[in-house]
Amino acid sequence: MGAIIPPPIEQYLASLNRLGDDVLADMARQGREQGVPCIDAEVGALLRVLAAAIGARRVLEIGVGIGYSAVWLARAMPPGGLLVSFEIDPARARAASANFKRAGVGDRANVMVGDAQRLVSKVSGPFDLIFNDGDKRQHDALHDRLVALLRPRGLLITDNALWDGEVVPGYVAAPARGAEETRAIAAYNERLSRDPRLQTTIVPLRDGVAISVKND
Ligand code: DHB
Ligand code: MG
Repeated sequence: MGAIIPPPIEQYLASLNRLGDDVLADMARQGREQGVPCIDAEVGALLRVLAAAIGARRVLEIGVGIGYSAVWLARAMPPGGLLVSFEIDPARARAASANFKRAGVGDRANVMVGDAQRLVSKVSGPFDLIFNDGDKRQHDALHDRLVALLRPRGLLITDNALWDGEVVPGYVAAPARGAEETRAIAAYNERLSRDPRLQTTIVPLRDGVAISVKND
């Protein structure tokens, strides 16, 4: 992942990132070994800075994987904060829960197992920040509910907005990622950019991160 920024620049950014720790580094290794897609540490630092900037105390995540991004988010939250992550794969949910304990955030980070489209109706808002890193084909169906769950001036952050550049027609000569996902992400970027309830910018870090703030 990460065909957007040239590798030497990514390495430079990585060399200046002091916000990680040994548990996160070990989790990133675990993700690579198990083939579970994780954000990278620079996106992790971005999540942590944004969550800290808005004083996030209630955070929702779609798609926990092994819990790597959740630990970055939880690191920005005060004791008593609540992070709820949805995960459809029970084995991944178990791995994430174990990692939460190991990372010392088991008091605030929780996993709900199931389909995000069902689980979004079971949680109540408002959330300060929502990180959507779930199935890209569900973005459209989830969107209105996610916006409703967000507090005014809350952040909706969506991973993989550039999809290795494949959302740009003709940019990638031999597209390697799922065509259905590519179409869904491109359509969703368009929807985000036009949603009058939000102000959205896409940061071309790693695989692209869409950052939307909900209007008052
Ligand atoms: C995939 C999903 C992700 O959320 C990600 O960050 C990278 C890859 C995928 O489904 O291929
Ligand atoms: Mg992702």
